[in-house]
Amino acid sequence: MDVEEFYKHYSLESLPSYVREIIKFVDERIMEEIKVEGFILDAGCGFGTFYEITKNYETIYLDICLEQLKKFPIDKNKVCADIENLPFKDESFDTILCINVLEHTNHEKALKELFRVLKRGGRLVVIVVNKDSFFKEPIFFDFRVKHEPLSLKDFKEFKIINYYSLYFLPSFIKILPTSILKRFLKFYKRLDKILSRKFKRGGQFLIVEMVKV
Ligand SMILES: C[S@@+](CC[C@H](N)C(=O)[O-])C[C@H]1O[C@@H](n2cnc3c(N)ncnc32)[C@H](O)[C@@H]1O
Repeated sequence: MDVEEFYKHYSLESLPSYVREIIKFVDERIMEEIKVEGFILDAGCGFGTFYEITKNYETIYLDICLEQLKKFPIDKNKVCADIENLPFKDESFDTILCINVLEHTNHEKALKELFRVLKRGGRLVVIVVNKDSFFKEPIFFDFRVKHEPLSLKDFKEFKIINYYSLYFLPSFIKILPTSILKRFLKFYKRLDKILSRKFKRGGQFLIVEMVKV
């Protein structure tokens, strides 16, 4: 299925409750980890899950899917465009966030564009499904749409300054009732933080912070 078409009909409410709990857990972990500054591009912003991170900065919110942008909590600074062909001048942004997007794209084209519009010395933060993960958790794959995991080797243009990964739970959690799962995830968060830093490469989502030198 076409990615744009897929996201046109995508909403959290349509997902099973255990998946929503896990997504909430992942989002909270991401919020804790990401820092931004300067003029920002949120490339593939979706309906604004991470608006909190950027709301106090001058930020452009870009997504290929108009339906997602319509749900976004603000009305200004929204651009409907393809990350593989960005409508911005070279060296425009100090920070670019690209969270859970590159797996849907031709990542080589997308990264070339992100490199072009990032200022020299600027920072790109990517979160993407990890090709080198110890586990392959099907919760984060929807095979109706392209979902290609990446690895550190895919970010050749940039200088990687930091990376780690987020760990998730194996499939058995699907059998837990949501109320128990919620409590379990609260406890599990601390463990996830430790695993993220100790076994940087093996989690299911890779977080890569890099600069354009
Ligand atoms: C999994 S959602 C992530 C949204 C948000 N970054 C988040 O983490 O909640 C993926 C988003 O990437 C957008 N997207 C996919 N391919 C894109 C492309 N080529 N250009 C711009 N946006 C794209 C989709 O429309 C969707 O909103």
